[in-house]
Amino acid sequence: MSTDYSNFTVKRIGCIGAGYVGGPTMSMIAKYCPHIDVYIFDLNQTRINAWNSDNLPIYEPGLDEIVQERRGKNLFFTTDYTEAVIKSDVVFLSVNTPTKHYGLGKGRQADLKFIELCARQIRDSVKTGHKIIVEKSTVPIKTAMAVSRILKTSSDSQATFDILSNPEFLAEGTAVKDLENPDRVLIGGENPAAIKILADVYANWVKREQIIQTNLWSSELSKLVANCFLAQRISSINAVSAICEATGANVNEVAHAVGMDKRIGSRFLQASVGFGGSCFQKDILNLTYLAEHYHLKEVADYFYGVISMNDWQKQRFAQKVVHKLFNTVSSKKLSVLGFAFKKDTGDTRESSSIFICSKLVEERAYLNIYDPKVSELQIMDDIMRVMNDAYDGDFSAHLDTTPESEMVRRCVKVIKDPYECVKDTHAVLIMTEWDEFKTYDWKKMYDSMKKPAFLFDGRNILDHSKLEEIGFDVYSIGVAEKNPAQW
Ligand code: UDX
Ligand code: ADP
Repeated sequence: MSTDYSNFTVKRIGCIGAGYVGGPTMSMIAKYCPHIDVYIFDLNQTRINAWNSDNLPIYEPGLDEIVQERRGKNLFFTTDYTEAVIKSDVVFLSVNTPTKHYGLGKGRQADLKFIELCARQIRDSVKTGHKIIVEKSTVPIKTAMAVSRILKTSSDSQATFDILSNPEFLAEGTAVKDLENPDRVLIGGENPAAIKILADVYANWVKREQIIQTNLWSSELSKLVANCFLAQRISSINAVSAICEATGANVNEVAHAVGMDKRIGSRFLQASVGFGGSCFQKDILNLTYLAEHYHLKEVADYFYGVISMNDWQKQRFAQKVVHKLFNTVSSKKLSVLGFAFKKDTGDTRESSSIFICSKLVEERAYLNIYDPKVSELQIMDDIMRVMNDAYDGDFSAHLDTTPESEMVRRCVKVIKDPYECVKDTHAVLIMTEWDEFKTYDWKKMYDSMKKPAFLFDGRNILDHSKLEEIGFDVYSIGVAEKNPAQW
């Protein structure tokens, strides 16, 4: 029986998970709904402390201002479960759902342990009243059904729940803009009255016609499909980049020409060293796993190609660096500019930089790494994890002393100044498209480097003719070499 929502008003919204999704999304609701109190709960006390400080745990342009404006008024970051969850009318689940690195579905399936834990906690703690539970994290389809089943299994509870799926489409680095002016807000659910309650919250700043409603499964699937399509465009242009390098075409020109066709569109055609981020790979793996589960092998293979192409692009870049540096980087010093998976974020999840740096360390290169927003701890941890094949949980004492970790510590230096980073190195590798890289004094950089000085632009953001005039040997993505050397 559907709940009667005629007397239901949203006075308090809670959110479990104060991460890249939960933090910005809740801040935006607090900004545009001053009549609603918004509580964000996280198990991680350090993260909550950071959200309550002047140094937020994530870097996102425009977010500091919103948090400063609303925090303590109607926006609260807390480890108090009762305040955030039990007392809230609507509870968002914004916890992480990484790819499983163990057991059945290893390397493919999303690990739903955090979501399931949330559902069980809610079931065991909420005993009366009615709540709307909103699935915000990207999840495999039918997760809402699992959440719903768990919530309905309490024997001593009067509480009732409606489950909605409301996937987040924000991209990191532009989260505030994306949330402020979304292309669409998607709400999936079975009870139209519950959907309307959530739609009314968004309608405080989003036009009604942009708030769309679907059934639960369509909503969950749409998020996966959107990310697969976006990633597919990048893999397509990256595949083309290899043809360009072989033939003498220029990938930037091809992307421009192709993108002017309105049916194709110009965005997401930037050839690169490969896509990263917490979503694309995970969601494609999810979709392919789902397809295989339903015996749709051809569908799974089709989308899996997007990941294979991305892996190949990263590998191709690392190989090119080794090849151009006279087939060996052993004992050579290389400077890596950019470690985040894209500009304007400090997030490194699945960043191509991690893979490429680990490959170069395996080749015995020494790396100087600079990123304006990523900490030294994060960079070392990321490279060590990949080299130790260790993805889960805290970095244990055992892993800290493996030969791989020792090697990373010996070969990798994180340097806080870009000019210091590049000094005395044989090559510069541009891994993230940070705007500041375009403003550097590249002549000064060149003068401080070993000669011949190589520059590999993995993002095609610099002025290559100018760099060549300065004296650099420049290699970019999808542009044929002018005078292919023997090396
Ligand atoms: C993505 C989706 O865009 C967003 O809608 C979803 O909610 C989460 O996943 P995000 O991963 O934050 O967002 O960043 P995005 O801008 O999509 O970039 C992903 C990766 O693709 C980055 O490594 C980026 O550098 C790369 N990329 C993007 C390219 O290589 N070329 C492009 O043309 C665009
Ligand atoms: P996303 O990019 O999806 O937001 P993050 O890893 O940035 O992912 O954030 C997820 C947050 O969820 C983390 O801060 C983590 O501590 C928190 N979290 C995970 N499980 C729980 C839970 N059961 N209760 C509260 N917080 C949780």
